[in-house]
Amino acid sequence: MMKYQFKNKTVHLEKVSAGNFDVLMDLSVHASQEDFVAPNGYSMAEAYAVLSDGRFVQAFGIYDGDTPVGFAMIGHNAFTEPDCPASYKNSYYLWRFMIDQRYQGRGYGKDGVQLLLDYIRSFPDGEETTCCVSYEPANEAAKRLYAFFGFVPNGEMDYDEEIAVLSLI
Ligand SMILES: CC(C)(COP(=O)(O)OP(=O)(O)OC[C@H]1O[C@@H](n2cnc3c(N)ncnc32)[C@H](O)[C@@H]1OP(=O)(O)O)[C@@H](O)C(=O)NCCC(=O)NCCS
Repeated sequence: MMKYQFKNKTVHLEKVSAGNFDVLMDLSVHASQEDFVAPNGYSMAEAYAVLSDGRFVQAFGIYDGDTPVGFAMIGHNAFTEPDCPASYKNSYYLWRFMIDQRYQGRGYGKDGVQLLLDYIRSFPDGEETTCCVSYEPANEAAKRLYAFFGFVPNGEMDYDEEIAVLSLI
């Protein structure tokens, strides 16, 4: 893939911390998108629970300069349920991803995914060869966004969501 050109020059990730969790909780999607992603407060509570169990998760604010524009969460071997999709085993995944409704359509989605993939490729919890994502079949924007980065649906489902996989090698 050609080198990605960021659309927003000062876009960056900031790890969720005691200093920023409350502003990130206030970010939201359009009402028509609410079925596509959990509220950020729920995701942060889930991240806390997973971390307490000693498994890997990292939640981020997506910022442009000082302005929080989105929220994301990645995981690695964080699911222990026996019926967990096979694709998720020994793989990183983009677990949650959203751009606030006020900032959509300006390239932050693409910039945010690129930043997350750069972080995942630093292998913060050990090397893996794949990264997964899942989305509702009706979520055309997500499908196109992830396909741009090379994610390919592999036919497996996570409940009602399609799983798509990106090779990291
Ligand atoms: C999906 C989402 C993250 C995209 O964020 P964004 O900042 O608007 O995305 P960008 O401006 O970077 O656009 C990235 C690509 O997404 C796709 N896209 C974005 N909005 C779209 C729309 N309304 N219809 C179809 N495709 C769309 C396009 O492929 C676009 O690339 P292009 O403009 O070069 O064609 C955002 O719409 C969102 O937060 N949705 C609700 C939460 C969600 O669905 N999260 C994903 C859960 S798996």
